[in-house]
Order: sequence, then structure tokens, then C-alpha cells
Amino acid sequence: MAYYFKLGNIPPKRHTQFRQPDGSLYKEELVSSKGFSGIYSNLYHIHNPNNVLAIGKPTPYHWEPAKEHGLKQTHLKTAGVSTTGKDYLSARKMLMMNNEVMMGICSPEQRKMDYYFKNADGDELIYVHDGEGVMYSQFGKLEVRQGDYIVIPRTTIYRFEWKEEGPLRLLVIESHGPIETVKRYRNELGQLLEHSPYCERDIRPPGELVTEAEKGEYLVQIKKGGMLHPYTYGHSPLDIVGWDGFLYPYALSIHDFEPITGRIHQPPPVHQTFQAWGFVICSFVPRLFDYHPLAIPAPYNHSNIDSDEVLYYAEGEFMSRKGIDRGSFTIHMGGLPHGPHPGTVEKSIGAKETHELAVMLDTFKPLFVTTQGLDFVDPDYPMSWKE
Ligand SMILES: [Fe+2]
Repeated sequence: MAYYFKLGNIPPKRHTQFRQPDGSLYKEELVSSKGFSGIYSNLYHIHNPNNVLAIGKPTPYHWEPAKEHGLKQTHLKTAGVSTTGKDYLSARKMLMMNNEVMMGICSPEQRKMDYYFKNADGDELIYVHDGEGVMYSQFGKLEVRQGDYIVIPRTTIYRFEWKEEGPLRLLVIESHGPIETVKRYRNELGQLLEHSPYCERDIRPPGELVTEAEKGEYLVQIKKGGMLHPYTYGHSPLDIVGWDGFLYPYALSIHDFEPITGRIHQPPPVHQTFQAWGFVICSFVPRLFDYHPLAIPAPYNHSNIDSDEVLYYAEGEFMSRKGIDRGSFTIHMGGLPHGPHPGTVEKSIGAKETHELAVMLDTFKPLFVTTQGLDFVDPDYPMSWKE
């Protein structure tokens, strides 16, 4: 959900005759949400979107919560990981989950996907920690780079081509509910307000439509119900000549998020970037620290009685934490207070600015480390406040 946008050729009126050069009709597809009551887009195909040649055997593609991990402040160290698997889907390692959201990492060896992916289970938010590339989807070509959030509405058919040189690290979030801009920053007609930390100019929709008319065999891996369903179609899924609407993938750079600061410590909601069912996403970006003469820039101890809080450390020095690396996750669970490590509060006094960059995910229901996540647990973290 961003704003109305269109690419390519569309007929002047929807649901009317729109003909190809040979006189046949283009195939219209309405992609809609919440029945017919949510946001939607209309796509115009050269071929029938149901032109299925074969359906392969479904394979399990889901994660399990490791409830035995128990109640403890958790640090997952992923800095030492250079690749997490061969291709985009096998490289996805979801490290924490509940019924509403999963969060993990993905660093595929294969930079160019040789299949398409369609997530029918949830919306995706991909944060490009390292890497630069192009996302090809039915909505067009979207160029993405380090620091981008890529919002991908469910059922978007897409594939990535990442540059071969340099590291590739993606933070991957799958959401059961739609990923949206923050409601309190929108007016009644959906426009982002003056006090929003970003506005429509910062939201980058696909820039150019890619239309592939040729027939052939095209594999689309469809995730539905925690299974991967291999579908082979008789034409490229990128057979769109035009589309319009509010539903499409887009990018928003964390570097375009304008921080809100104050005289005393500002709470995390000022960093909120997206909302979804059961969780929020916040961006901690380089900013000036609090400017009250007696301000303490480090956060206070905090008991979030009904949330679990995850921070993914992307860049810079985190002044309130020791032993945290680039690529670390901390999970501070509701039920325990959390706060700065000993000595860091005093050290923060007088600091004028921070160059930190981090992505936060706060869930409103308990979040569990997955069985795969256990591989990354730092066993010393729960006792790291010991004086
Ligand atoms: Fe907190």
C-alpha cells in the first residue's frame, strides 16, 4: 500500500475490451485484497494467467518454534555467516517466529534466481543489509541496493538478480497480515502527513515494465500453507503489458527515513516505519542525540510487559550494548526488563550523535526462536549485565 501508480498500457476503462495487435483480447487480472474491500491492482496479460503445464510434488517449507529455549534475553550472532544456502529459497533461515510473523536471514550463493517465487502465505519485507541488484516482478523492474526495505505484497511473482561482487546479506520478514505504512502518519485519504518521517517521494515503485511475450516452460515456486508448490507455466509470468492500482512491490531506503529527535530520550515509536498485524518495524538511523543539558542518551531500563523486542544491528556502534556485532539480533522478551549494559549509561552522557543503523521488530504476541535459530545463540548473553 503506497499510492496510485501505473506502468505500461492500460485501457481507458477497466473491465472493457483491450486488444492485442493480432486482435485477440489481453487477459485482465484483478489482484485484490480483503475480498473486494482492500487495495488492488489490475494487470493485463498477453497470455492466460492460468496456463499451467504441470504441478510438481509439494515439499515442506516451514519452521518450528524451539519452545525449550525458554525465557531468556537472547543474542543471535550471524556475523560470521557468509552464505546460508545455495539458492534464494534454500538460503532462507527463519530464526524467530510466532503465528503472525517470521524473521530471519538469507545469503544465497546463487546470485541470479533461475526460478520465480510467489509467497501466497504472507507479505514480505526484505531489508538489504549488503547487496545490490534488481527485482523482476509482474509489476516491473525494481532496482534495489544496500539499506533498502523491499515491501512485497503476497502473491507477487518475482525473482532477484543480485550483483556477483561483494557480500549479499538479506534480512527477511514474512508477515501474516499486510505490511503497511504507519496509520498515524496518514491523512484520511491515505496521503503521508507533514510529520511523517518519510513521504511518497521516498517510496520507489518499479521503474520500468518488463514484458516477455514468449512461450516456454517457466517454474514458479508457490509458498502456501508452509509448503512449496512447484508450478510450471507455459509462458513467462512477466507477460504484463500494463497495470495500475495501489497494490505493488516498492522500495524505501532506510537512509531516507528522517529521524525524530527531542530534548530527552525519545521512545521507539518515533522510529516506526511500518505496521502489520501483531508487530511493528522501526528504523534506528544516524541522528543527533537528546539535547537537554542533563540528558542521558542511552535508553533507560525497560519492561515491555506485552511485547517481545528484536533489534537487528546493521551498522555502527551500539552505545547501549557490549559484544554486539554487525548482523547480530537481540531478542528482549516480555516478562524480563532489559536495558543498557553496565557502564554504557555513564559513557553515553555528553555524546552528541550516533551513526547506528538498526532494524527493530516488536511483536505483540510471544516470539520464539526457531529450531534453526538455536544454532546462532550466544550462550553468554543472558548474564552479560552481571556487575
Ligand atoms: Fe525496549
